[in-house]
This record gives sequence, C-alpha cells and structure tokens, in this order.
Amino acid sequence: EKAGFDHFMLKEIYDQPKAYRDTMGSRISPDGRSVVLKEISMTPEQLRSINRVHIVACGTAYHAGMVGKYVIEKLARIPVETDVASEYRYRSPIITKDTLVIVVSQSGETADTLAALREAKRCGAHVLAITNVVGSSVAREANDIITTWAGPEIAVASTKAYTSQLIAFYLLGLYMAQELGTQTAEEVAAVIAAMKELPGQVEEILKQSDALKGVAGEMAKHDNLFFIGRGLDYAVALEGSLKLKEISYIHSEAYAAGELKHGTLALIVEDIPVIALATQHELLEKTVSNIKEVKARGANVLGIALEGELELQKSVDSTFVIPKTLDLLTPALSVVPLQLISYYASLARGNDVDKPRNLAKSVTVE
Ligand code: M6R
Repeated sequence: EKAGFDHFMLKEIYDQPKAYRDTMGSRISPDGRSVVLKEISMTPEQLRSINRVHIVACGTAYHAGMVGKYVIEKLARIPVETDVASEYRYRSPIITKDTLVIVVSQSGETADTLAALREAKRCGAHVLAITNVVGSSVAREANDIITTWAGPEIAVASTKAYTSQLIAFYLLGLYMAQELGTQTAEEVAAVIAAMKELPGQVEEILKQSDALKGVAGEMAKHDNLFFIGRGLDYAVALEGSLKLKEISYIHSEAYAAGELKHGTLALIVEDIPVIALATQHELLEKTVSNIKEVKARGANVLGIALEGELELQKSVDSTFVIPKTLDLLTPALSVVPLQLISYYASLARGNDVDKPRNLAKSVTVE
C-alpha cells in the first residue's frame, strides 16, 4: 500500500502531482480558457447576490482556507473571513442568505467543522464543501461539493489533501471571477495556464528532496524554530509550522514577517533556525529587510525562493529554489519543501512519522 515508500506520508507527498492533475481534471475546459464547475448549483443571480464569504475549517484545512481567502478576494473581489471551526459558532458570526459559507475538510467528518456547517445552514447560508471523501457527513449535508481527488490520505499529517484543497480554491476563485466578470478572459486563461504547469513543477521539487535531508537533520537538533513570510507566504508558513510541530515535535512558530519586531524578535538568538518564505514579488523587499533583522541577531536562515531571485539568495544562509509561477499560485509549490523538511526532521528524531503522539487522523469529538 505504501507503493515502496517507507511511510504513507512520503508516498502522499509524492502523490501530489497526480492529485493536482486529478483535481483540475475535467474542471478546466479543453481550450484551457475557462473553469467548468458543474457541481456548483448556485445560479448566476445567486452568485451575484453573495456579499460575503466565510471559510471555516480546522488545522491544515484552515490553513488552506487562509490561502482561499487571498484567492477569492483577489480574483472575485468579495470580502472573505476565515475562521477555525471551533471558534466560528461561538462568536455569533453574521450569516445571512447572502453569505457563502465554505467548509473545508479532508475527512468530511471533523465534528467542529460539521457543527459549523449546520449552524450556517440554520442561518440560511449557502454551504459549499471542499472535501476529499465522497459521501462523508460534510459532503452529505452541504448544498454544493467540490471534491478534491487526492485519493485516500492515511498519514495523520495532511499533505496531498492540503494541496488539493488549494487547487480547489484556485478553481473556485476563477469560476467566481468568470461568473462575476471580475477578471478578463485573458487573466483567467493566464492563471489556468500557470496552474497546468504546477504538477510538473512539483515533480521538479521532489527531485531535489535529497537536498532537504541534511537541512532537516540539522533542524532536528534544535528545540525551537521560526517560519516567517508575508501575504500568501505567511499562510504557507503557518502550515509549515503546524506540520513540523505535529510530526517532529519541534516547537515552532509562524510569524507574519512584519510582526517580528512587535515582540517575537526577542526570541531570536544565535544559531536559531529560521525558514523564510519569500516568493511574493511585491513584498520581496520588505521580507528581505525582515530577514536582515533576524540575521543581525545570529539566526541561521533558510530561504524558500523562486528561481532567479539572486538578491534574496545573498541575504540568507542557504536557499531552496522553487520553479517560477504566478505569485497567487506559489503556495502549491512552496509548501512541498516544508512538508519534506517535517518528514525528514521527524525521521531524524526517530518519531512515528505516520502516527504522531496524541493525534488522530479524524477528530470526531468537539
Ligand atoms: O479531516 P479534516 O480536514 O477536517 O481535518 C482537519 C484537521 O484535523 C487536520 O487537517 C489536522 O490539522 C492535520 N492532522 C494536520 O496535518
């Protein structure tokens, strides 16, 4: 079942190019110029009446939702809030019939997510589920479903489900943009063309996975580590940090790079590892200045950068290079080295990679 891999997690990391292809599949028109989402039952009028979107999920699915917020706001220009499901219900969110509530759940059985879905429906919202399990509770109860075709995910640490959720959000964002006319046909086609490159680009990254073994082995010797980034890089930093904590048991924190000097910089001491994600062009200069702040305190910085960013490479101690893509799509690439670092750090520490302590694959209690 592990197809020759030592662990399910590693197999599932390597399944990602296929998961991307399958999730995009027939949802992209043959001419590559539009997104076809037959599974959305909302009429164009209903879609136009939506004035806010809530994305609700737990853990890794919540982190995918944070990327989803950027994507929908950028492409469809509708305000989006993202909440963890265990908080959502208890803060009396403003939900009306013009609210689109998107619940994201790999298993479709997470108790808090399901409860949030029910509350949203009770308030008259249209509920769209992004889930990996056909026929799951979430899938049965939602009004519409976008299924991620990642295939079964066995390892407790979510990898291919997360990246397939990103693909689902890109498809949904583009679909909404088409229907609402918030992007030109050329803009939509350009994003689709770049999306089609993603599976091959993940394959390129996976070919370099050996380079991360040594890095992860060094990180595994530390008890604390930081991830920093801005914009979409921050959303991915949160996911990288969760993955690392979950399976390597190394304490880590993800910080919006600009927030460091509001407190956390006090924790940066000589030799501490910092993983700096710097893939967003408009924010690059700012991120580099934050990298300099941690470097000045002795941090050992690994940069995750797009090909060709030589200036950035000069400001860090080492770099993992990812292939060029649109800023909006970088999460689908930049998370992969972070998944591999977590995997190899967990191995280096002799942990049970697929079954980390205290955790269950599916959290069916609130
Ligand atoms: O099945 P779900 O997507 O609803 O699960 C949500 C979280 O429990 C899950 O993503 C968890 O955070 C993962 N173990 C993280 O790797």
